[in-house]
Amino acid sequence: MTPTPPMLAARDLRKDYPMNGETVHALRGASLSVEPGEYVAIVGPSGSGKSTLLQLVGGIDTPSGGSVEILGTRLEALADRELTRLRLTRLGFVFQRFHLLPVLTARENVELPMAEAGMKGSQRRARARELLEYVGLGHREGHRATQLSGGEMQRVAIARALANWPAILLADEPTGELDAATGQEILDLFRRLNSDGTTLIVVTHDEHLAAQAGRIVHMLDGRIVSDSVAP
Ligand SMILES: Nc1ncnc2c1ncn2[C@@H]1O[C@H](COP(=O)(O)OP(=O)(O)OP(=O)(O)O)[C@@H](O)[C@H]1O
Ligand SMILES: [Mg+2]
Repeated sequence: MTPTPPMLAARDLRKDYPMNGETVHALRGASLSVEPGEYVAIVGPSGSGKSTLLQLVGGIDTPSGGSVEILGTRLEALADRELTRLRLTRLGFVFQRFHLLPVLTARENVELPMAEAGMKGSQRRARARELLEYVGLGHREGHRATQLSGGEMQRVAIARALANWPAILLADEPTGELDAATGQEILDLFRRLNSDGTTLIVVTHDEHLAAQAGRIVHMLDGRIVSDSVAP
């Protein structure tokens, strides 16, 4: 019997950026394994490599060394089209600045990844409505992104990230642009998502967010310096 592969296995990840004839070592060998249902916070000072790590495990960027496996699939073995498909259907991304399309409504933004994955129009609409209800924005489906508050934009972005039933939700500073009260709504939503079974990996400076994660990974100077289950 083959054991179930971990949700995510990143091994000895390295990332070098050439800069003006020198090399920036953004990641100097980081390994991380995440099991289904975990809630992992990645913390550390600015420049320690948190976003770089998230981008590599999410297949947004390619490592200079090391490997990433998502549910047993090695990302570096995939052709571009397969990698795009895996990102679209297995991973959900949430960014600090939301990245919604301003001309589209909340519902249309949530539908976009479903359309890309080939889901039919009627199904898409129904699922987008369901997801907007889930994040507490059923009453805002017809608002354009520009007609939403920051917290509402982030909740739409989270609904969009969930569109194709991802195995893992990756978020980079999801409360970074929000005031404390609005940030708290996002924290509550993440907690609910995790208790409903979503695996979360969240980069954050927000100590409340880190405190509610089950596991905290500390980064320093391109390395993971501690990785512990929260008390
Ligand atoms: N495209 C790039 N080209 C050159 N250097 C880069 C690039 N992206 C990141 N770096 C460098 O790599 C290091 C790690 O950057 P990264 O964005 O991962 O840090 P971070 O921990 O997310 O920081 P912050 O908390 O400020 O977001 C930094 O020194 C940064 O300047
Ligand atoms: Mg960052």
